[in-house]
Amino acid sequence: MCRAVFVVALVALIRPAAEALDNGLALKPTMGWLHWERFMCNTDCDRDPDNCISERLYMQMADVMVKEGWKEAGYEYVCIDDCWPSHQRDAEGRLQADPKRFPGGIKKLADYVHSKGLKLGIYADVGKNTCAGYPGSLGYYETDAQTFADWDVDLLKFDGCFMDWKSLGDGYMSMSKALNKTGRSILYSCEWPLYEWPFQQPNYTAIRETCNHWRNFDDVYDSWSSIKSIFDWTASHQDIIVPSAGPGGWNDPDMLVIGNFGLSHDQQESQMALWAIMAAPLLMSNDLRDICPRSKKLLQNRLIIAISQDPLGKQGYRTAKVDSFEVWERPLSKNQLAVAVLNRQEIGGPRGLAIRAVPGWKICDPQCNVTQILPQYKEMGVQTQQSKIVLSVNPSGTALLTVTPISKDFKGLSKLHWENTSVKRKHNTSL
Ligand SMILES: *[C@@H]1O[C@H](CO)[C@@H](O)[C@H](O)[C@H]1NC(C)=O
Ligand SMILES: *[C@@H]1O[C@H](CO)[C@@H](O)[C@H](O)[C@H]1NC(C)=O
Ligand SMILES: *[C@@H]1O[C@H](CO)[C@@H](O)[C@H](O)[C@H]1NC(C)=O
Ligand SMILES: *[C@@H]1O[C@H](CO)[C@@H](O)[C@H](O)[C@H]1NC(C)=O
Repeated sequence: MCRAVFVVALVALIRPAAEALDNGLALKPTMGWLHWERFMCNTDCDRDPDNCISERLYMQMADVMVKEGWKEAGYEYVCIDDCWPSHQRDAEGRLQADPKRFPGGIKKLADYVHSKGLKLGIYADVGKNTCAGYPGSLGYYETDAQTFADWDVDLLKFDGCFMDWKSLGDGYMSMSKALNKTGRSILYSCEWPLYEWPFQQPNYTAIRETCNHWRNFDDVYDSWSSIKSIFDWTASHQDIIVPSAGPGGWNDPDMLVIGNFGLSHDQQESQMALWAIMAAPLLMSNDLRDICPRSKKLLQNRLIIAISQDPLGKQGYRTAKVDSFEVWERPLSKNQLAVAVLNRQEIGGPRGLAIRAVPGWKICDPQCNVTQILPQYKEMGVQTQQSKIVLSVNPSGTALLTVTPISKDFKGLSKLHWENTSVKRKHNTSL
């Protein structure tokens, strides 16, 4: 009975994704930095010049992203969130940046960011006002799209505050068309499903045709309870949302808060691992000018980033709950599998899970090659379905692995080993 349900769910989850928005962007989950979670709506540049929403903040982040290896690791977009504009549109009805905090204007800031080989993201809202009360784009979609294109902006985060929910679809689709009409490739990040879910199940076919990624659930906070709530929401809606992800369009569980104040190192590893499994945009919201080396190393971990950016472009999902563990798996290119084993117990010490309890472990027949990426890099070597490996996972931490199947006719290194194991198995058929 349970098995049958499991198989049906898997078939639903491997359905090919529908048509994506055809703007050539977000073929892999977007990587970059976004100000909101860390800097919020801090506009007090007199008292807090280093942390207020001003052109200086983005210029400094762009500088650090180039100097400290972020760009090289793949982080590309420097993104402005709410609270950048002036409270008034200009005489022609166009949005304008706050003149005191952005004296050079957005075009100059875009030029600066581009001179570093990075891209600039901006923020607006589908409704009457932004969430923080700045002018919204309702009634100005074409004007605002053209303004952003004239400024050479590369990404638009389009929020959903102050909008009648029944008009969300029309609004988001109109802005998508307006962006296309400018002729400039602008990555389009939506919040349409987040604002529609309280009323009805959103149409993910339409959303994928309209947006490059889309927020489904609450804003992330700098806390483990927030991260857990995102895991839980995602797992409990995976049959609906996972099939809609693929090259060109992704589910967005919100920003990475790694490097801030609220998560232990194990919890930071859990966020990084699960964001990679979920094929989520990797948009950090932290202070790159002052980040602890361990968080930096985690965010720049090339093996985790490779899982995130895997060219197959399939989103992973929760495949099992065993004791206090959740197993999440993501199919990767070349028949590889990424496996995250999250320990949800928040008392006691490290707990062990036998690797054979991972549903995807079946690809280890006859053999597989296992590499552990978190909590530390470890080549676990060639394994079989009978392997006795036990993963040790700290409370609220995650073990992250890649598993590469080795086929029977594999002629490489492991051939001898395969022959030896198969001989061994013949002798132990009762196992
Ligand atoms: C606009 O849409 C058309 C058709 O979907 C597509 O071919 C074109 O590349 C798009 N242009 C931009 C700038 O996104
Ligand atoms: C969802 O959107 C697609 C594409 O726009 C459309 O063809 C389909 O009819 C919609 N489904 C529902 C149930 O409204
Ligand atoms: C197993 O994976 C490791 C790490 O990627 C690699 O160095 C090793 O050669 C692989 N072994 C086999 C038998 O494929
Ligand atoms: C396979 O078995 C032979 C003979 O028992 C042994 O010499 C060899 O080292 C084994 N090879 C591997 C890869 O385990």
